[in-house]
Amino acid sequence: MESSSRKPHRVLTGIKPTGTPHVGNLLGAIRPALRLATEGVEAMYFIADYHALIDVKDAKALAQQTYSVAATWLAMGLDPTKVVFYRQSDIPEILELAWIFNCFTPKGWMNKAHAYKAAVDRNREKGSDEDEDVNMGLYNYPVLMAADIVAFDVDLVPVGKDQVQHVEIARDIAQRMNHHHGKEILRLPQAKLEDNAAIVPGLDGRKMSKSYDNTIPLFATGKELKKIINRIVTDSTPPEVPKDPDASTIFQIFKAVATPDECEALAARYRAGIGWGDAKNALYEKLESSLADGRAKYTDLMANPKKVDDLLAEGAAKARAVARATLDRVRNAIGIG
Ligand code: TRP
Repeated sequence: MESSSRKPHRVLTGIKPTGTPHVGNLLGAIRPALRLATEGVEAMYFIADYHALIDVKDAKALAQQTYSVAATWLAMGLDPTKVVFYRQSDIPEILELAWIFNCFTPKGWMNKAHAYKAAVDRNREKGSDEDEDVNMGLYNYPVLMAADIVAFDVDLVPVGKDQVQHVEIARDIAQRMNHHHGKEILRLPQAKLEDNAAIVPGLDGRKMSKSYDNTIPLFATGKELKKIINRIVTDSTPPEVPKDPDASTIFQIFKAVATPDECEALAARYRAGIGWGDAKNALYEKLESSLADGRAKYTDLMANPKKVDDLLAEGAAKARAVARATLDRVRNAIGIG
């Protein structure tokens, strides 16, 4: 991670540990992010536990979600020997930088940030005080995110639509610091919009999402998994009637985990007429088999939190060295050397 051996591009992804990872996360977030770690790119992934603290105040839940998300990414193929993987809270330099950034960030920029504005809109709709249940963490969310990014001299930040503005704010803050001090202290990051991320439907046919309560947890198995799959909404078309696979939620979810050949085979059964029970069974078996390896790794890691801690600590040591150098440059520039 020394600057002399710096690769042309450093990309960074932050993962907020909220909720149980589900099949939609695998396709929409985990696999696209893991694909970034290609030749010539230095990839950094971190668990944004200080961002989760904005919402999660239950200590046990926060700890459990952090392990669960770390174990999920490791189980799904993140290789900590090839990428840098760490926990945000293991890098105190991020928080120190965030305070300094706070002092260079116009309050008006935060008034316009999406996460805060959405909370205000919800309160207005309810007729409540606009700032009800808004803590300073939520208000300052983009400043912490700017520190997450800028501390590591990051070039590119792949994000979904909802996070583009936050990365732009990070860039603006870095630019303002550079401008104010008349030198390039900080590298300016750029957002890379990941708009081709796959969307998987949930049990009710809408996008699979925690907020719709329609998810299939990645590591559910056996009876629990069967019960969940049985909740997938279908119509009353009789079994023998030919069906359009592309119009079927069951088939869309199947496609997310199956090979093209397996999809073609199931599509043929749809066109010949398949009962919904049989289609659900095909999906159940596919999920059981395709996620078996990942599930075994996940279970092993969750039973050995020390293993996860050790891996994250190794990542943090590498990441901290970079953040330290950035912070030293900044402290020096502001007159707190
Ligand atoms: N805000 C991001 C989300 O909700 C998570 C995040 C925190 C992040 N810090 C980041 C993403 C830095 C990219 C870069 O998904």
